[in-house]
Amino acid sequence: MEGGQPLVYFDNAATTQKPKQVIEAMNSYYENTNSNVHRAVHTLAGEATEGYEMARTEVAAYFGAPRDHLIFTSGTTEAINLVAYGWARANLSKGDVILTTEMEHHADIVPWQILSKERGIEIRYIPLERDTLTLDMEAFEIGVQEASLVCVVHTSNVLGVRNDVERIIELSKTTGKKGSGAFVMIDAAQAAPHERINFVELGCDFMALSSHKMGGPTGIGGLFVKPEIMETMIPFISGGDMIETVTLEGSTFQKGPQKFEAGTPRIAEAFGWHASVKWLSKFDMKMVHEHVSNLAKMTAKKMSSIPGIRIYGRHDLNTCSGVVSFLHDSIHAEDLAHLLDSGGFAVRTGHHCAQPLMEALGVSSTARVSFWIYNTVEESDAFIDYLTSIVEKFG
Ligand code: ALA
Repeated sequence: MEGGQPLVYFDNAATTQKPKQVIEAMNSYYENTNSNVHRAVHTLAGEATEGYEMARTEVAAYFGAPRDHLIFTSGTTEAINLVAYGWARANLSKGDVILTTEMEHHADIVPWQILSKERGIEIRYIPLERDTLTLDMEAFEIGVQEASLVCVVHTSNVLGVRNDVERIIELSKTTGKKGSGAFVMIDAAQAAPHERINFVELGCDFMALSSHKMGGPTGIGGLFVKPEIMETMIPFISGGDMIETVTLEGSTFQKGPQKFEAGTPRIAEAFGWHASVKWLSKFDMKMVHEHVSNLAKMTAKKMSSIPGIRIYGRHDLNTCSGVVSFLHDSIHAEDLAHLLDSGGFAVRTGHHCAQPLMEALGVSSTARVSFWIYNTVEESDAFIDYLTSIVEKFG
C-alpha cells in the first residue's frame, strides 16, 4: 500500500489477491504465446490453443469433471445468464416454476425475473428462518415439489452460511416437479475458494463459479453442465468461434462447450485460472476451510463484545465460510469502512448484490470482512483493536 501504510485485505468475498504464479502465467502467455485460438495453423496459434484447452481440462479436473463439462464464461453472472438464456429459455415455459431463495445474489434473481416476464414462468422464493438465518428447509421440501428448476446459492456471500446443497439436490431429483425430478443450478462462487467441490459427485445439472474469487484472474469463470443437458441448450451469444458453418441461408454450430464461447475467448485468463487451480491443488482445502471459518468465528466472537456492534450470520456453525457481516448501532457502515480503511483495513460495505436478503435482515446494507488463505489471527486481532478504538471515539 502507498505511503507505507500496512494493508490488511479483508475483502476476499469480493475478489481475492492473486498468487504470483497466476500473474506469471498470464504474463508468459502475452510475452511468449500470444495468439488467437481455434483459428490459424501457425506455431503460436497452436501453442495458445493448446494452453487454452489444457486450462479447460485442468480446471474441469479440479472440479472432478471431464473437460467437455466446462463452458468458459466471463464469471458467475454470465454463467447463470447462460442457464437462463441458453437452457431455461429453450426448455421451460408458462406453467413451470423456478424455485430459488431469499439469500441469493442478484445474479441468481434478476435473470429469472427477466425470463419470467418474457415467458410467464413463475418464480418462488424459499425464505430464511429468521431466528437461525438459515434456509427454511421445511418450506423447501414443500416448494420443490412444484419446481422445474431449483437455483440455490451454495454459500452466502453475506451470511457465510453454507446451504445443505447435497440434500437440496437429492430432494430436487426425487421430489421435484411432481416426482419426475427438477433440474438444479448451484451458484458456487463463494464456495469454491475454500471447499473442494466435485461437480460430478455433487449431482446437480449446472454449477456456476468465478475464477477471481479463488486466486485466478477477473474476466473468466465457468458453467459446469452435464453434456446431455448441454446438447439441449441454445447459444446465448453467437458469432465467431462457436460456428461450424455459415451460409447466407443459415448456420450450424460447434458441439460441446465451444458452442457457447462466441468470439475471441478469454485466453490469458484461462492460462491464469489454470495456474490458480494448480496453486490451490497444493493446499488441503479442508484445512483452508477450517482456517477461514475459524478466523470468522473468532473475529465474530470478539466483535460481538464491542459495544453497539451487531453481527449477521451463524458463526457457531463449522460449515460457515470466512465471512462476517456486521453493523454498528450509530456509526453508518460506509463511515465505518472509511475509518477502517484509514487504518489499513480493506472491508466491503453495501447491499452485497443481495437486496432481498438485506430486506429479510431488516437493513439496507452491512459492513463485511471476508477472509482467505493468507489472512492471519494477528490481522484479525489488529482489526478488533482498531475497530474498538473507532467505536470508542465515534460510537
Ligand atoms: N458478489 C461479490 C461480493 O459479495 C462481488 O462482494
